[in-house]
Amino acid sequence: MKTYIWSIPTRIFHWLLAIGFTIAYILSDFENFRNLHFAFGGFVGILIIFRLLFGLFGPKYSNFSDFPLGLKNQKEFIKTYFSKSPKLYPGHNPLASVIILCILFIGIICSISGYMLYATENNVLNIGINEEFLEESHEITANLFLVLVGIHLFGMMADKFFHSKTGTLNSIFTGYKNIESKNTQLNSFHKIFSLLWFTIPFIIFYLAYGLQINTKENENENSNKEYYEHNDD
Ligand code: HEM
Ligand code: HEM
Repeated sequence: MKTYIWSIPTRIFHWLLAIGFTIAYILSDFENFRNLHFAFGGFVGILIIFRLLFGLFGPKYSNFSDFPLGLKNQKEFIKTYFSKSPKLYPGHNPLASVIILCILFIGIICSISGYMLYATENNVLNIGINEEFLEESHEITANLFLVLVGIHLFGMMADKFFHSKTGTLNSIFTGYKNIESKNTQLNSFHKIFSLLWFTIPFIIFYLAYGLQINTKENENENSNKEYYEHNDD
């Protein structure tokens, strides 16, 4: 018996997030790709904001009210994990729910701290927060994000190994799990919302790509230009 668990928007979000985060993280090492880093980083932040809204009024299983978070659920999940008849969860299991919420929360802070760092370094906004603090916050949240992804992947592999019949790993590609439950269903509002969800992040990508960087060389170049223009007059 197969049940439709992850609708198309949840799956598109998942893969855009995975790609966006991976590229933003890798590019952070390259000075020459600074603007692409901003673009992918901003893209990830907006994607997550939409996912948070989808968690509030989204369909079954993707809705946060369907995340089995409580301590009782965690205990039951851990206790039965290796038993012959483990408790099966059609949506996210209790531990996955916690990790996923942490990914969303840390992802947003990482993206916002990145923008604030950019804005402070380049005198775009005077936020009044110390640059070093922002740099530390951005670095720590980015690395925490990476650790959470590692835990997420480890959890998925463990599930594949110990509960392979459920088909959790395949579900993020196909949408279906081998569990008997109620199919998820999108209403018209979810569909219209999803159009915005997968349009606006690309606009932010474009805008973030165009952010001006005032490097020391740029500043010197600009002041030299001003000096020569002034003297030409
Ligand atoms: C979730 C998305 C993001 C991830 C995973 C990420 C990751 C990183 C990492 C790993 C670093 C290197 C930290 C270090 O070792 O010092 C970095 C630096 C930086 N990031 Fe991000 N970032 C993201 C979003 C953003 C955004 C949206 C912006 C700005 C629009 C941004 C601006 C910066 C800046 C200005 C630096 C410092 C570059 C430097 O001066 O060396 N980041 N980021
Ligand atoms: C940077 C990489 C990744 C990130 C940031 C990430 C993040 C997430 C998030 C946030 C969710 C929750 C989806 C939602 O409810 O909207 C999720 C679910 C899931 N992810 Fe990933 N993911 C990554 C890579 C992968 C990879 C490479 C795989 C396996 C090929 C994978 C397999 C899954 C599966 C199977 C689920 C559904 C889990 C369940 O049924 O409880 N993820 N992931």
